[in-house]
Amino acid sequence: MAVIREAVRVTRKPLVAGNWKMHGSRDFVAAHLQALEAPLSELAIDIAVFPPAVYLDLAARQLAGLPVAIGAQDLSLEEDSGAFTGEVSGAMLKDVGCSLVLVGHSERRTIYGESNETVAKKFVAACSAGLTPVLCVGETLEQREAGETQQVVSAQLQAVAAVAGLDRLTASIIAYEPVWAIGTGKTATPDQAQEVHQGIRHWLGAEGAKTRILYGGSVKAANARELFSRPDIDGGLIGGAALVPEEFSAICRLADQQ
Ligand code: PGA
Repeated sequence: MAVIREAVRVTRKPLVAGNWKMHGSRDFVAAHLQALEAPLSELAIDIAVFPPAVYLDLAARQLAGLPVAIGAQDLSLEEDSGAFTGEVSGAMLKDVGCSLVLVGHSERRTIYGESNETVAKKFVAACSAGLTPVLCVGETLEQREAGETQQVVSAQLQAVAAVAGLDRLTASIIAYEPVWAIGTGKTATPDQAQEVHQGIRHWLGAEGAKTRILYGGSVKAANARELFSRPDIDGGLIGGAALVPEEFSAICRLADQQ
């Protein structure tokens, strides 16, 4: 069992990613990243932060030389550049030091009306720019209660696979984030999360065994250990708890101990 776990860890190294959402300031970036520097530099897992777009450059400069990846929270579905007022392209994100980008976060889907098709186009734009997409999928409470969780998640995956191809989907990172657990303090139980992660992996087919699948939704130090101990959970996408350096570093340490 331990040997299998080790083999899996080679391709699916745990990743803890902090999604700052629309929080922060120049002072916050400086203080927060400085507080993370020492605790995170000794860990063997992958770590990433997703600051708001205007602070990406600042964060990238401050993290230069540290083993922490930078990701953006969204990108334009147009490629590179053009007359698209207010948009930020994948090429620009890459230019300021990003290697990752969230695609299809539930707040983008519900508040800004991003459809599965839009999400798929953004996924492709991310790949074209040389960024690794972190594709967020997940069901609402209503859908869960109607027994539609796997169906909803499969449709979200299928929309991306249809446009980007299954190969690019399995080579990306997937974050299962039940909408009812995001920012609500309600976490999916480790069993609920494991069941959906296993379903996603099964849906992805043979190559899905290598895909990193993160859990997100009210993850904190108090519940991270149990979630990360499940075989198909390869780390977490952390919102609120990522804004508190002690909490975020504690979650990273728990992932490192698995
Ligand atoms: P939360 O957010 O940890 O605050 O629930 C997670 C996310 O939205 O990625």
